[in-house]
Amino acid sequence: MINNNVKEILNEQINKEFYSAYLYLAMSAHFENMGLYGFANWTKTQAREEVDHGMIIFEYMNERNTPVSLKQINAPDTDFSSPMQVFGKILEHERHVTSSIESIAHLTMDECDLATRNFINWYLKEQVEEEKNASDVIAKLKLFGDENASLYLLDKELSKREYKKHEYN
Ligand code: FEO
Repeated sequence: MINNNVKEILNEQINKEFYSAYLYLAMSAHFENMGLYGFANWTKTQAREEVDHGMIIFEYMNERNTPVSLKQINAPDTDFSSPMQVFGKILEHERHVTSSIESIAHLTMDECDLATRNFINWYLKEQVEEEKNASDVIAKLKLFGDENASLYLLDKELSKREYKKHEYN
């Protein structure tokens, strides 16, 4: 059983991961409307990974006989325009998530919950990749510009992203 402070922060993180899924789905819908189906695929795939992130914490809490309490998921931001603007928001969002994960790591140290401290390492590593993925797309948008021809090529590239179930190991 996990102590109350750690339990609370893990419950909050489940909510943040599902909110992330909502946010990426909203972005995906925006790109669909723009006819940028590769960008839509990339963000929809990310939404599915975010659900996995939430589920991994859910399963971990069950494994530790710790009650999960699901909180209300807020409606996502829908103030989206160009791909560059949306990917700027993605990077900002992922940095925010990284700082949430770091707070969990700090709390587990304060509470001497070494099992959860070890568990959260997977997320610390995952956040490095999440920030890099967003930065890579931003770098390409900067390099090639967001003219129609460049967007067409980048859209094709992003259409190749495939969903792979994220699992804790
Ligand atoms: Fe689950 Fe994008 O952080």
